[in-house]
Amino acid sequence: LIAYLNGRFAPLAELTVPVLDRGFLFGDGVYEMIPVYGRRPFRLAEHLKRLAASLAAVRIDNPHDEATWSALVLELIARQPFGDQSIYLQVTRGAAYPRNHAIPARATPTVLLFADPLNPPATVLVEQGVAAVGMEDPRWQRCDIKTISLLGNVLARAASVDAAAAETVMFRDGLLTEGSASNIFTVKNGLLLTPAPSNRMLTGITYDVVLELARRHGPPPVIRPVTEAEVRSADELWLTSSSKEILAIVSLDGIPIGNGAPGPIYRRMYGHYQQFKA
Ligand code: PDD
Repeated sequence: LIAYLNGRFAPLAELTVPVLDRGFLFGDGVYEMIPVYGRRPFRLAEHLKRLAASLAAVRIDNPHDEATWSALVLELIARQPFGDQSIYLQVTRGAAYPRNHAIPARATPTVLLFADPLNPPATVLVEQGVAAVGMEDPRWQRCDIKTISLLGNVLARAASVDAAAAETVMFRDGLLTEGSASNIFTVKNGLLLTPAPSNRMLTGITYDVVLELARRHGPPPVIRPVTEAEVRSADELWLTSSSKEILAIVSLDGIPIGNGAPGPIYRRMYGHYQQFKA
């Protein structure tokens, strides 16, 4: 697999970064995961815009303009032996010595990109849905930044791994935030409900696509705080992400959501999404 690090393409297994890289020492960096269908990146401009916003939020100068990023991503895609790809893109603040929390005056960001084969969810998951567990959101107050500091997400995901479930749905102050690596939608009485973008969640690219599709095809989305009680009593519960697309959550903490199978509104939205990404 050909990857990219700081200006050169090379096999992923040959690439190394210095131990003083602040990504390694502090989790001081940001990332994106961009799905690629048949060598065409999906919503690349939106991913690059979110990358720029994450970099600005953590005060790392964006090492490239949008055209250069696009060219890099397209070249990486062209160099892979497979068409459906998941592009991982990471920028850290770079190496600095001595170790010090203070942001160094001069550091050269470390830029890493690599591709994996993209495996959209298996048909059985689309048709039968997945299990999830709920937990109190353990993360910090800037979940809107797509940072590589993911320990909160990792520990949240561990709870669903322990329960042999596919995702952990998180709540803060009695309100839905998001999944450990996804955004969450509910359907109740035919209404599609999801929280508004805020510091409590990442604004997913897939979240935006689903809202766009809901505005176009219905049901009209209602964007407002969603309570834990509303999640647990929803008719339908969905997760969305670039890698999982849209999946129905059919049980939460072992209790069925709706009738315990993917609902009609999910199936319609899944169809719209498949057409949209094609
Ligand atoms: N994760 N919220 C969190 C915490 C996420 O990690 C992700 C995606 C999302 C959905 O964002 P998007 O629709 O832009 O993929 C929401 C990616 C897939 C990852 O960590 O690999």
